[in-house]
Amino acid sequence: MFTPKRASFAASVLLAMMSGASLAETPNLGKPIDEAAIASWDISILPDGTGLPKGSGTPAQGAVIYAEKCSACHGDNGKGGTAAALVSDRKIDGISAAQKTIKNFIGDSTTIFDFIRRAMPFQAPRSLTDDEVYALTAYILSENKLIGASDVMDAQTLPKVKMPNRGNFIIRFPDRI
Ligand code: HEC
Repeated sequence: MFTPKRASFAASVLLAMMSGASLAETPNLGKPIDEAAIASWDISILPDGTGLPKGSGTPAQGAVIYAEKCSACHGDNGKGGTAAALVSDRKIDGISAAQKTIKNFIGDSTTIFDFIRRAMPFQAPRSLTDDEVYALTAYILSENKLIGASDVMDAQTLPKVKMPNRGNFIIRFPDRI
């Protein structure tokens, strides 16, 4: 019979085996990862701005970077090209994905920063500095008339920018979260 006493004996044998096994018997795949390496991938920003890094940028600074690193795909002034328009007043009146734009489909301004920093430019993700990402976010928000032309975006100001469609998202299956 499997009594508690035997169970604890089994557990200590197992522990002894595990500690005896130690690293020497691992498959020797990969290498230990240090905190700094983890931190460089731990870049998620929450809707309320938690996780936003230091730095700042203005629409004017962003315009220069945009012309150099983004317009080839997203078109002059964000009007669209081979990749989606980043500046648009399109309304959503159907289910076509093409109708989704930054203004009508991103609920939190902080998501724009997060997405650009992790994924753009498409051919060189993670190549932008935090200041550049703030500037590009400021430029896109300003062109969409969501902030003023000389507003500075940083960890304090960006989360305060309210996206126009923010109140119209529903959680379809709240019990599954
Ligand atoms: C080589 C082409 C290319 C370049 C250059 C590029 N992008 Fe993109 N961008 C894309 C593609 C393709 C997508 C769609 C990606 C997806 O859906 O996964 C995209 C998506 C985006 C989105 C999300 C759009 C939305 O409506 O959800 C943003 C914001 C964005 N890019 C910003 C930028 C910025 C800022 C730059 C310059 C630093 C840039 N992109 C450079 C191709 C590009």
